[in-house]
Amino acid sequence: MPHEVRGVVARSRGAEVSIETILVPDPGPGEALVAVRSCGVCHTDLHYREGGINDDFPFLLGHEAAGTVEAVGDGVTDVAPGDFVILNWRAVCGQCRACLRGRPWYCFATHNAAQKMTLKDGTELSPALGIGAFAEKTLVHAGQCTKVNPAASPAAAGLLGCGVMAGIGAAINTGGVTRGDSVAVIGCGGVGDAAIAGAALAGAAKIIAVDIDDRKLQWARGFGATDTVNSRESDPVEAIRALTGGHGADVVIEAIGRPETYEQAFYARDLAGTVVLVGVPTPDMKIELPLIEVFGRGGSLKSSWYGDCLPSRDFPMLVDLYLQGRLDLDGFVSETIGLDQVEEAFAKMQRGEVLRSVVML
Ligand code: APR
Ligand code: ZN
Ligand code: ZN
Repeated sequence: MPHEVRGVVARSRGAEVSIETILVPDPGPGEALVAVRSCGVCHTDLHYREGGINDDFPFLLGHEAAGTVEAVGDGVTDVAPGDFVILNWRAVCGQCRACLRGRPWYCFATHNAAQKMTLKDGTELSPALGIGAFAEKTLVHAGQCTKVNPAASPAAAGLLGCGVMAGIGAAINTGGVTRGDSVAVIGCGGVGDAAIAGAALAGAAKIIAVDIDDRKLQWARGFGATDTVNSRESDPVEAIRALTGGHGADVVIEAIGRPETYEQAFYARDLAGTVVLVGVPTPDMKIELPLIEVFGRGGSLKSSWYGDCLPSRDFPMLVDLYLQGRLDLDGFVSETIGLDQVEEAFAKMQRGEVLRSVVML
C-alpha cells in the first residue's frame, strides 16, 4: 500500500510551490522508505522551480535532509528500520569508469529509487536531485541513506546532505587545504561559510572572507574567518594580496558562481595556487582570461561538485566532529520552518537574510 503524505511540489515553471498529497510506494529491491525529519532549503530547489535544471515538472522539491529509515526493500543490508540517516545524492555504483579507477566521488552512474512517487491522480513526480525530501516520507535508493550518530540534531545534520558538504568539501577534498595554508573564500553564504569552516578544520592559518554584505562577513568570522574584505568597498584582489604578504592566497574558493568573482579568484591566488569553483554558474556565463596567465601562474583551476564528497566516508566523520564541538553545524541553521513556508524561505534566501532555512517534520 502506498503511503499518503504531504509534499512540496513545483507544478510548472516559475509557479509558486504548493503542498500536495503525494503517494510514496513501499520500498522495492534496493530501496528505502525514509521518514523525513529535516530538510534545508537550497538554491537548487529554487532552480528546479524556475525550470533552470530541466523541464520534468512536476518536481517534488527538497534534497538536504535527515530522517529515520522506516522500511527497506529486498537485498538491503547497509541500513535498517530505525537508523538515523542523512540523505545523499551520490549513491556510488562501484562499477562505472570513475568507480573502477578508485575515484568513487566522481561516480558517473549514481543510484536513485527505481519506483516513482506520484500525485494522487498518478502523475509521476521528479524528485529534486533524486531525493524529494520536502515531504513527510520519501523513497530513495538505500545507498542514498548514510547512517550517522543519532545524537546529532536533524536540522544540523541534514545540511551535510548538500550545501554544507559542498563548502566543506570544496576546501578539504577539492582544494586540499592543509595546516598553515592561506585561504580566501569569495561569497559567504551557506556554502562559502562551510568552506571557511572546512578550511579552519584543516588547519589553515589565514582565512580571508570576501562578501559585499557586512552582516555576512560578521557571520563568516563565527565560522573561522581571520580577516574580512567587503568587496564593494575595496578591490578584493588587492586586499587578499595585501593580507598575504603581497602574494595571494594558496587556495581561493569561489562560492557564488559568477564570471567576475571567478576572475577575482583567479588573480587573488598565489603562484602555483589553487582556485576552486563551487558556486554554480548559469549556462549563459563565460569567462575570458589571458591564456599566458593561466599557463604562467601554474597551479590548478578546479571545480567542486558536491565537495567531491564520499558520503559514506565524510558524513559520519563530520557528524562526529560536530558532536565533539569542533564543527559548528548549528550555526548554519538560521531558522526552522514548516512545509508550508518553503516559498517564503525562497524569498528570504534571495534577499540574503539566511544561511539556511530548515523545514522540520
Ligand atoms: N562579490 C562578493 N560576494 C557576493 C557577490 C559579489 N559580487 N555577489 C553575491 N555575493 C555574496 C552574497 O552576499 C552571499 O553572501 O555571495 C553569497 C552567496 O550566498 P547564498 O546566496 O546564500 O548562496 P549559497 O547557498 O552559499 O550558495 C552559493 O554555491 O552551491 C552553489 O548554487 C549555489 O551558486 C550557489 C553558490
Ligand atoms: Zn560509479
Ligand atoms: Zn542543494
